[in-house]
Amino acid sequence: MKRIFLIGYRGTGKTTVARLLAEKIDWKWCDADARLEQRHGKTIRQIFAEEGESSFRDKEAALFEELSQLENHVIATGGGIVLRPENRELLRRGKVIWLTADAETIWNRLQQDATTVERRPNLTQGGLPEIEELLHTRAPLYATCADRTVDVSNRSPEDIAEELAGAFVV
Ligand code: S3P
Repeated sequence: MKRIFLIGYRGTGKTTVARLLAEKIDWKWCDADARLEQRHGKTIRQIFAEEGESSFRDKEAALFEELSQLENHVIATGGGIVLRPENRELLRRGKVIWLTADAETIWNRLQQDATTVERRPNLTQGGLPEIEELLHTRAPLYATCADRTVDVSNRSPEDIAEELAGAFVV
């Protein structure tokens, strides 16, 4: 087992947990969204606004083909990585952990995150209804990809990383 993927909706703490888990198991970590923004020199919000979602998904899939080959890495994926079948196939290259919470919890967390407005484009109508709608369609996809599911409600990233480090002794 050479890599761990964190999947799940926006605001579930994938990036923070990736960093903390990597520290605990002495691996490297990376955040797929941050890499994508660096590579293209634009925020995801700009890519959505200028080129549309399907262009963003093409870029995301091309980058993920590379990231899924990294060794000894914990990789925080974008919330929509499970949408394309080829990405779901690539996720099989590692252990997949689904960080999840109910829609209201996610909505509260996103509102507290200062980077939300600047970095996160609306995907449909925005707000709590968007989260409810997308969670409904994505939950089965996250579930089919996941080797392990962690409910992040009322838990700190540190606590979650500790649990996962114990589960995936490498
Ligand atoms: C998206 C989630 C975002 C980012 C893009 C699309 C989604 O990633 O990839 O805005 O479709 O849920 P995070 O989950 O890291 O915020």
